[in-house]
Amino acid sequence: MTVRRTLLGGMLGLALAASTSGFALAQEAVKIGLILPMTGPFASTGKQIDAAVKLFLAREGATHGGRKLEVILKDDAGNADATRRLAQELVVNEKVSVLAGFGLTPLAMATAQIATQAKVPEIVMAAATASITEASPYIVRTSFTLPQASEPMANWAAKNGIKKVFTVVTDYGPGIDAETSFANTFKEAGGTVESVRIPLRNPDFAPFLQRVSEAKPDALFVFVPSGVGAQFMKQFIERGLDKAGVKLIGTGDVVDDDILEGMGDVALGAITTHHYSAAHDSPANKAFVEAFQKANPGMRPNFMAVGGYDGMKLIAKALDATKGDASGDKLIAAMKGASWESVRGPVKIDPDTRDIIQNIYVRKTQKLGSELHNVEFETIKDVKDPVKARK
Ligand code: DHB
Repeated sequence: MTVRRTLLGGMLGLALAASTSGFALAQEAVKIGLILPMTGPFASTGKQIDAAVKLFLAREGATHGGRKLEVILKDDAGNADATRRLAQELVVNEKVSVLAGFGLTPLAMATAQIATQAKVPEIVMAAATASITEASPYIVRTSFTLPQASEPMANWAAKNGIKKVFTVVTDYGPGIDAETSFANTFKEAGGTVESVRIPLRNPDFAPFLQRVSEAKPDALFVFVPSGVGAQFMKQFIERGLDKAGVKLIGTGDVVDDDILEGMGDVALGAITTHHYSAAHDSPANKAFVEAFQKANPGMRPNFMAVGGYDGMKLIAKALDATKGDASGDKLIAAMKGASWESVRGPVKIDPDTRDIIQNIYVRKTQKLGSELHNVEFETIKDVKDPVKARK
């Protein structure tokens, strides 16, 4: 009898403990560890994403799937060792359910193993080297991939009388992706390509632009990471490349909305391909830009902000679908195939690659009233990352 009572008591105790923790779980916030470069040379990326994450919570609410979202922001200053250490601390000490942010490719890659081992989703809101999503089955991306943006640029150039291109890219993952996919596509269409790569840290474009100037191409195709474009553009003009008739083309990173106004007229006429422009003509985007600018006076949202906003949207949608269950495998399953109307246009998470399928727009940098904008004039619909689509 005593044994039976003890056994029953034990079972009851267990059941109670289980239901209490179930109850506690439903009440507990879902913690999101947001790791961004808030200082250092890539701080503009961190500031844009941080602002967008806050805007998402303000506009769309902090409770999703019955759980409150709690964002813990950490600054890695763009240093991969710091990203790895912060990710580890967030998982072990803070018990975050999701890791998010990742302003540069090396920072996203540095966290992949932690995501896999802890089974914690890693939401890449910025970094854009194609191979990132292959580094862990727990990585899902809401930014873009460089091949996704570069191939449409090559096709547009080939169709618009450009025959000889010099590519200038930053020498690391996304730059190499941009160069390779642009060159392959452009050569297939009959064009010729020469290429140079510039260092990521403390870039001086002058010697490279001198080489371009001597080669006299029809166009210069450029990729530099977000925030660096103003310096590139200034040297492009200083070398007289515009006057020599070299057309400036590239992915939209170089004419990033965050710094476009500061560039002034030097950016006028650039043709770029990208997934987001603050001038995207839709009521949803107008409302987004207005709300962003109201909350962050003097700042215009760029593609990094949209990657951050949609990253939060994806986490919220997944929690809705799992009814608040924040275990990693459940969240990842819910994220695969998720689709929504983003301020950039319709988007979907490719269930096979965990990359984002989205429209790519061809844009021209021009004045709208007194402001410089990237004005979209052609749409390539529902573009997948082409590298993985061909595998
Ligand atoms: C990456 C960083 C950027 O700032 C950008 O515009 C594109 C890609 C990256 O490191 O992956």
